[in-house]
Amino acid sequence: MLQEKIKQYTQEITQFKPTSAADVESFRLKFLVSKGVVKNLFEAFKTVSGEEKRVLGKALNEFKQLAERTFQEATAAFGKGDATPQRREGDLTLPGEGFQLGSRHPLSLVRKEIVEIFKKLGFVVAEGPEIEDDWHNFSALNFPPEHPARDMQDTFFIKKQEGNDIALRTHTSSVQVRLMEMGKPPFRAIMPGRVYRNEAISARAHCFFHQVEGLYVDENVSFADLKQTLFHFVQELYGEGTKVRFRPSYFPFTEPSAEMDISCTICKGVGCNLCKGSGWVEILGCGMVDPNVLENCGIDSKKYSGFAFGMGIERITNLKYEIKDLRLFSENDVRFLSQFESEVI
Ligand code: PHE
Repeated sequence: MLQEKIKQYTQEITQFKPTSAADVESFRLKFLVSKGVVKNLFEAFKTVSGEEKRVLGKALNEFKQLAERTFQEATAAFGKGDATPQRREGDLTLPGEGFQLGSRHPLSLVRKEIVEIFKKLGFVVAEGPEIEDDWHNFSALNFPPEHPARDMQDTFFIKKQEGNDIALRTHTSSVQVRLMEMGKPPFRAIMPGRVYRNEAISARAHCFFHQVEGLYVDENVSFADLKQTLFHFVQELYGEGTKVRFRPSYFPFTEPSAEMDISCTICKGVGCNLCKGSGWVEILGCGMVDPNVLENCGIDSKKYSGFAFGMGIERITNLKYEIKDLRLFSENDVRFLSQFESEVI
């Protein structure tokens, strides 16, 4: 019986003449899979008697080798016929893969928010260079020649040149000068930008930071306009009910000058670590543009008056998000930055 079958299948295999990969696959499925002819014959072989085993064993092994060789040769000629459909690139039925989105830097978020508030009041955005000359950064702004801010301690000088050193700007007030030199009043502009000071880097100081400068020059601009504009700004940024107070101060380019405090955003004026128990935190410097500055920029100080203010974006951001270390802003630590992912404006 078994001998008969081996003979019959041997004949079939020797006559096998494949013409396609599909033929090769049918051959494999018939002879070589686990329920195929070869396996079945070996199963049947287990039941034959001892004497027969010797003869049939040899024939069966030869048959198996023939089947395998035939399959290998056919595969080499036509390739494997793959019964499973080809896997397509990018299966559209699979769920999509999430990818990581970047987020806006907290300083950009707050800068944008500040600018938006002033835009609604009719302020336009102006910009100036970060590399400035002495005239725009100091002299035109009424800094006396011996003023300590010109000292090497605070300013990064790039080039010393007779009467007009080149340096990295120490404040955005330089943009006020450029704006006023270029045009005619009225001016109503907001000027965001990066500034540089020669300070040791720590949690509370950095050698570069960001400011927003504001300038309003027209006929009959008064300190009352300054107070009301900044009061409105604070209500918009920190919420209705935030209190403001003005303390007399000094800047060479404004007269009178003031520093503005707001009621502490953390303890609401009760007193905490942030406001050192006082209930107030300082957020900006401001004042009426000094007539000398107007004249330096070719503006008639008898006819026009104006106010100016300048604030550090880092400080505003620290108060808003309770950030305690300035260095976080420039370290590019994703653990810090990704906390602002949801803040989209
Ligand atoms: N330029 C000042 C500073 O950097 C801020 C300021 C701007 C003050 C405009 C008054 C008016 O501290």
